Amino acid sequence: MATTSKGLFGSSLARKYWMAVSGLFLCSFLVGHLLGNLQLFVSGEEGKLAFNEYGHFMTTFPVVKILSYVTYGAIFLHTVDGIMLALQNRAARPVGYVKEKQSANASWASRKMALLGTLTLFFIVVHMKSFWYEMHYGALGLDANGNKDLWTLTVTAFEQWWYAAFYVVAITGLAFHLSHGAQSAFQTLGVNHPRYTPIIKKTMTALAWLIPAGFVAVAVFLYVVQPGQNL
Ligand code: HEM
Repeated sequence: MATTSKGLFGSSLARKYWMAVSGLFLCSFLVGHLLGNLQLFVSGEEGKLAFNEYGHFMTTFPVVKILSYVTYGAIFLHTVDGIMLALQNRAARPVGYVKEKQSANASWASRKMALLGTLTLFFIVVHMKSFWYEMHYGALGLDANGNKDLWTLTVTAFEQWWYAAFYVVAITGLAFHLSHGAQSAFQTLGVNHPRYTPIIKKTMTALAWLIPAGFVAVAVFLYVVQPGQNL
């Protein structure tokens, strides 16, 4: 790998470090986001009002707003660093690299991190347009409490089979991305303890599958139950 010392952001070691830090932060965002989305399992007027109240809080409470800006910054940093590292690795790869050797030494997910990351970025752009943009700049109706009706927007989006299917495919890609990324982040950060490192690796691998499984469960639930039809 072409590692040069170009300061805090320039060298590939520094880039890996920031990839790890931003990636772990984004994992913590996903845990919080999933916990919020679990409210979508509560159907009926009660669930609708609670979710809209939550949406209002998430877009107006100052501390959460700051966390949102940190999240956008982390997505940007992770993407730019990821592209730079992928380009560097490609440039440094020896000509005529034997493909079979590559697959013998590394998991499928670890060799496809750039592809899986690109799929996730594409998903985030579509997803932000569907909900974030509409919540902030769209013309949403109001619910009985006067909050923007984010719930109806969300549940009706998943009534379309192709929208729910897109989520299942993209979030499965995210799971593979996390399955390698989450544990390799700790390696990059130099966490290397004979007793705790194996525990951290196992925990991160479990989370890498459990978090996306939760998102997929929400998407499938909304498609199958179609809670918007009963109100
Ligand atoms: C069933 C799956 C999901 C549902 C129903 C869902 C729903 C939503 C909704 C309703 C919002 C708008 C609320 C707001 O602006 O605060 C939102 C925002 C967002 N979602 Fe999701 N989401 C899902 C999965 C994901 C996944 C897998 C990712 C990342 C890979 C993601 C990333 C984001 C981001 C970055 C925002 C903007 C958050 C902010 O402004 O602070 N979402 N999501």
